[in-house]
Amino acid sequence: MILVTGGAGFIGANFVLNWLADSGAEGIVNIDKLTYAGNLANLQTLQNDARHIFVHGDIGDKALIAKILVEYRPRAIVNFAAESHVDRSIHGPAEFIQTNIVGTFNLLECAREYWGALQGGDKERFRFHHVSTDEVYGSLSLADPAFTETNPYEPNSPYSASKAASDHLVRAWFHTYGFPVVTTNCSNNYGPYHFPEKLIPLVILNALNGKPLPVYGDGQQIRDWLYVGDHCSAIREVLDKGRLGETYNIGGWNEKANLDVVKTICGILDELRPRADGKPYAEQITFVTDRPGHDRRYAIDASKIEKELGWRPAETFDTGIRKTVQWYLDQPEWVEGVVTGSYRDWLEKQYRH
Ligand code: NAD
Ligand code: TYD
Repeated sequence: MILVTGGAGFIGANFVLNWLADSGAEGIVNIDKLTYAGNLANLQTLQNDARHIFVHGDIGDKALIAKILVEYRPRAIVNFAAESHVDRSIHGPAEFIQTNIVGTFNLLECAREYWGALQGGDKERFRFHHVSTDEVYGSLSLADPAFTETNPYEPNSPYSASKAASDHLVRAWFHTYGFPVVTTNCSNNYGPYHFPEKLIPLVILNALNGKPLPVYGDGQQIRDWLYVGDHCSAIREVLDKGRLGETYNIGGWNEKANLDVVKTICGILDELRPRADGKPYAEQITFVTDRPGHDRRYAIDASKIEKELGWRPAETFDTGIRKTVQWYLDQPEWVEGVVTGSYRDWLEKQYRH
């Protein structure tokens, strides 16, 4: 078995689905707190798959984590669980400190105790894979080279500061206790099951619903976009072959200004689902007040993972974004569940008694 945390969220669910798509794959224990960002509909296709065991719980719950480790004896932990939205972290940072820092600390301690009691090959093989973000490196100017693994940490938002803190804990557990960790720092993901508070799914759904497409500030902030399936394949490579204690940057070599991303989505929708009035979706673009402390540019230099592990993304931005728009058009039920909030009913149904 492997233990995945946060596997009902966007990237975690894609990882679980991608892993179990291989019929010979090991099973997954998936612990998720099911915050607003956790959605079991993401995992609906696994309902009758005995290889997927879902546990509703918090990575900060020491007794629960210890119990799961003893019961399922995973050979690896992949830690996706986090509060992940920058704008929410600005409005209410407390949950970010609790889950991203205290939760990761708790998980590390439980895992270290479990690993300490393993013997021989089981101990050698064990891995703790921490999934992190390029936002820990701060903001680049247009002239700066892309982030490498040796860039200093300069987080600017409560979200990135909390992720940076968790990365430091993971690093320290390796150096101090010899605990077998790998960390990946990835650029902005997009793809299926992305919660529509983030730019790309928000723009797709607002466009289809005739709503404004909010672009912060001048729309010239740059992000380095990676299709989520490529992030999953990179994590698998690092989990398999990454050197202990190392960090690996993961990125798509796809730097785009936000306004260009929004216009690209509008163009694809004009083609695939033209507006009833025949006008372009780009007419819905609306410039709104900028995010406080908004990082101007992120860019990942992903040459280390390519040189050491032979990983490169399979999708370009053009192929990935087209697939993504098509996915949202093909999934009206998933979209409705998320937009109406009915995906949350599962909790009510499950815990009514
Ligand atoms: P998400 O917000 O979609 O999902 C997070 C999941 O974690 C949710 O299912 C939520 O219920 C769960 N969770 C939250 N708190 C928890 C807790 N205390 N215990 C257990 N589960 C908890 O996030 P995502 O976009 O899928 O990101 C996953 C990871 O990847 C995060 O660690 C994030 O920092 C990192 N990351 C994300 C991106 C991106 O572009 N989305 C890029 C790089 C790295
Ligand atoms: P987001 O998807 O929130 O990811 P992150 O802040 O982690 O990079 O935002 C991506 C970029 O899009 C970021 O520069 C903020 C911008 N943005 C908008 O312009 N409008 C929006 O409505 C949202 C949600 C984001």
